[in-house]
Amino acid sequence: MKKFSVVVAGGGSTFTPGIVLMLLANQHRFPLRSLKFYDNDGARQETIAEACKVILKEQAPDIEFSYTTDPQEAFTDVDFVMAHIRVGKYPMREQDEKIPLRHGVLGQETCGPGGIAYGMRSIGGVLELVDFMEKYSPNAWMLNYSNPAAIVAEATRRLRPNAKILNICDMPIGIESRMAQIAGLKDRKEMRVRYYGLNHFGWWTSIEDKDGNDLMPKIREHVAKFGYVPPSDEHGTEASWNDTFSKAKDVWALDPTTFPNTYLKYYLFPDYVVEHSNPEHTRANEVMEHREKHVFGSCNAIIQAGKSSAGELEIDEHASYIVDLAAAIAFNTQERMLLIVPNNGAINNFDPEAMVEIPCLVGKSGPEPLVVGNIPQFQKGLMSQQVAVEKLVVEAWEEGSYVKLWQAITLSKTVPSASVAKAILDDLIEANKDYWPELK
Ligand code: NAD
Ligand code: G6P
Ligand code: MN
Repeated sequence: MKKFSVVVAGGGSTFTPGIVLMLLANQHRFPLRSLKFYDNDGARQETIAEACKVILKEQAPDIEFSYTTDPQEAFTDVDFVMAHIRVGKYPMREQDEKIPLRHGVLGQETCGPGGIAYGMRSIGGVLELVDFMEKYSPNAWMLNYSNPAAIVAEATRRLRPNAKILNICDMPIGIESRMAQIAGLKDRKEMRVRYYGLNHFGWWTSIEDKDGNDLMPKIREHVAKFGYVPPSDEHGTEASWNDTFSKAKDVWALDPTTFPNTYLKYYLFPDYVVEHSNPEHTRANEVMEHREKHVFGSCNAIIQAGKSSAGELEIDEHASYIVDLAAAIAFNTQERMLLIVPNNGAINNFDPEAMVEIPCLVGKSGPEPLVVGNIPQFQKGLMSQQVAVEKLVVEAWEEGSYVKLWQAITLSKTVPSASVAKAILDDLIEANKDYWPELK
């Protein structure tokens, strides 16, 4: 079996150790000859990398491992780039969340003004990774899950139209795992779904078991009462995420014939979200206090002891969709997956140039999107507005246009007026001056 060379871009990410453990658990179907980490923050990456070095030495000494901040070293001789960077890291996420809240608007990593601000930082970072890949390993594929994926995907569609980049999100996978549990199945892969939308903005229209039996009625009965909170929670979901899974019940009620992506709560119930936010302590604070502390604490313990049992790093089973995607390309498996791709007619009554999240068959030459057909007025209206926001952000970034970014924030369904949009924008510009292009 062919072995592959992978570079993880954003080696210092809190998700890197879980992904490394997941890659190690999947060597039978996606074998590695080389694994590299790349990050532009050498010190942050070093802690994660030195701990992963200990794990790799124990579990897979044959895989060549290295880490670097030098793009040439990182991107030379690779087959896949797995990209999960966060430009500006958690302190800027905190700003994205807190600035809109100061103006009474929700503060979220990928939705509303916070997501727009993050998009304005991410576009340049991800385009740079694409350019490194094309320069040093022109035949490689980039599997990107850096956020905000919708804006990043639109930027690469527009500015690097021929790049071999696939944008993917784990939210549908997380929700489908919950649906499978609700339906009494062991694995989400026992379901065959139809879904359409934008990233963090979509709906399931059909869920069947392998024999074609409709699972929607059973799932619907549960979702109507409990949202996506399953009968038993084996994974110990954090309280703030549990609220989101529970709120899906109200989001679902707006179209009971489908099932919604949880992120629609930010667009359909923004007032509720604001009321339930603490402007002094947002999700970024929770992540810094918990996940970041836990991951870096474990890595330091492993480094000190020189053995992996000294830490409490967990395999990110969830992330096996990344292996599914890599294996689909590497071995032409034709696996059916939800990807963020140019619409190009798949949703018949929708902008062909929008980046949409839809089922695709994935093989050696990339994704082959499946036809969705016509979508209803409610979804079409919401999606048209949101796609316009995403396109305006990319245009604003490309042209350095203040007015286009003001239009984008004004058009977001989470923002009540152009004056509020302007006040938020002016604060965001100040906070992002080290990251955004200058706006005129
Ligand atoms: P993190 O801050 O812990 O890690 C991000 C890393 O990226 C940091 O080490 C940082 O130094 C590095 N980085 C920033 N800018 C860079 C650049 N220009 N070049 C190289 N490296 C750079 O963040 P995290 O919480 O672990 O999340 C990482 C990313 O994964 C985020 O974008 C997050 O939104 C995304 N994510 C996506 C999904 C999905 O479903 N698509 C799921 C989970 C996380
Ligand atoms: C889900 C989404 C990701 C997002 C993450 C945030 O997994 O699909 O796109 O980055 O949630 O999680 P966090 O724990 O960082 O708030
Ligand atoms: Mn996502």
